Amino acid sequence: MTSSVRVLLPDKPVESLDAYLAGGGGEALKKALAMPGQEIIAEVKVSGLRGRGGAGFPTGMKWASVAQDSCPTKYFVCNGAEGEPGTFKDHMLMRRNPYQLLEGIAIGAYAIGAKRAFLGVKSSAQKEVAALQRALEEMSDRSCLGPVPIELALGPEDYLFGEEKALLAVIEEKDAMPRGADFPPYVMGLFVRHPSQLNPAVVNNVETISNVPHIVLRGASWFRSIGTSDSPGTMVFTLSGDVQKPGIYELPMGTPLRELLNDCGGGVRPGRKLKAILSGVANPIALPSHLDSPMDFGSMSRIGSGLGSGGFIVYDDTACMVQVTHLFSRFLWLESCNQCTSCKQGTAQSTGCLTQLIEGSGDEMDLDLVINGAMMAPQANRCYLPVEHSLLTPSIIRNFSQEFIRHYHRGCRNCREAVLPVMRDFDEATRVFTYSLGRAIP
Ligand SMILES: Cc1cc2nc3c(=O)[nH]c(=O)nc-3n(C[C@H](O)[C@H](O)[C@H](O)COP(=O)(O)O)c2cc1C
Ligand code: SF4
Repeated sequence: MTSSVRVLLPDKPVESLDAYLAGGGGEALKKALAMPGQEIIAEVKVSGLRGRGGAGFPTGMKWASVAQDSCPTKYFVCNGAEGEPGTFKDHMLMRRNPYQLLEGIAIGAYAIGAKRAFLGVKSSAQKEVAALQRALEEMSDRSCLGPVPIELALGPEDYLFGEEKALLAVIEEKDAMPRGADFPPYVMGLFVRHPSQLNPAVVNNVETISNVPHIVLRGASWFRSIGTSDSPGTMVFTLSGDVQKPGIYELPMGTPLRELLNDCGGGVRPGRKLKAILSGVANPIALPSHLDSPMDFGSMSRIGSGLGSGGFIVYDDTACMVQVTHLFSRFLWLESCNQCTSCKQGTAQSTGCLTQLIEGSGDEMDLDLVINGAMMAPQANRCYLPVEHSLLTPSIIRNFSQEFIRHYHRGCRNCREAVLPVMRDFDEATRVFTYSLGRAIP
């Protein structure tokens, strides 16, 4: 049976600063402000905290690289864009405990010696924006935010808003388009006006930063006592699709995938069989044979998939994998910003050929072109979006080739329509996610 833990996600929203302080909130920042920044960074390094935004990069290492930079102007940026299909955990963390997140930002910004801090969030995320504005106001009125000013940066619906270089562009009031990839994201950070300036910026995910007050207050060894040595701590998982109890569940890292799906999610509906699991759109798919895999970064990559940002989309045996592949290929094509020719063309080619297969005019050559489009998309790419396409699309085709072959010259007949799970809301009483309509085909 699953041992659920609640470190980050409280049962109910924390409604006021008083309630937060009464539960021990604010103590971590007080402790941090009495420490040199380097000591805080060292503690985060030892904790083994890894980024929860998708790549699992060690947070302490990222902070150290910016803190050590000789450029006097540094920024701390929190990524609350969360636009990847199948994930809603950052929204829930911002809704239920905005104070914890702001305290984490205040600690991180102080630790790296930032001049200003920003929190990027979609302007359409009204509940989250309201909770954050209220918390920001209460915390600054009572001097609970430390020395670095923190501002909300409201952004667009675009999936790319969450890509770190595009997020920095949005903070500079530009479009959500990743800038040139010649520099790591923290170099040439924000508001650079002169070639001699670097203005490095740390960019961290909402969940990553929400862990920081707990690590500072309770220590790295407490954090390492939860989860696995590869991935210490908990993770807030989003479970959606063909399960009986979709939702947001916080579990120790390393919990088997089976426990999330069956113990938390109630499994697939009676009489149905599990067919495939997507951990967002950035990794190859996982299969029913992978259910015993521990959910941590290393284990998920060893089964040929990935943990991503902990959003799992479940498909049962009524799903049409041609529709599913088309859906996510089209999503990535429409969200590609067209700065890199191969990215837009490759994703368009895959999507077009998948449309032929769905409509009944496709055959083996189209299937080859789907894979070919996916593989050519990441050439001279400024960001990781086309790489996601090249990992996900061929992996579905490889595992469900017979299903694709059955669609040759025939198309979808009575196939269930696949629905894009870009989440806008979650009703906790009914356990229903509301999805956004997604971008229209131009
Ligand atoms: C297309 C695209 C979209 C992304 N969207 C998000 C997002 O919404 N939130 C997020 O934290 N990271 C997102 N990322 C990853 C970020 O670029 C970045 O790696 C992350 O914010 C770093 O934080 P972490 O180290 O705490 O995980 C996205 C990446 C890509 C390529
Ligand atoms: S790789 Fe694609 S999404 Fe990324 S910057 Fe280039 S065109 Fe835009």
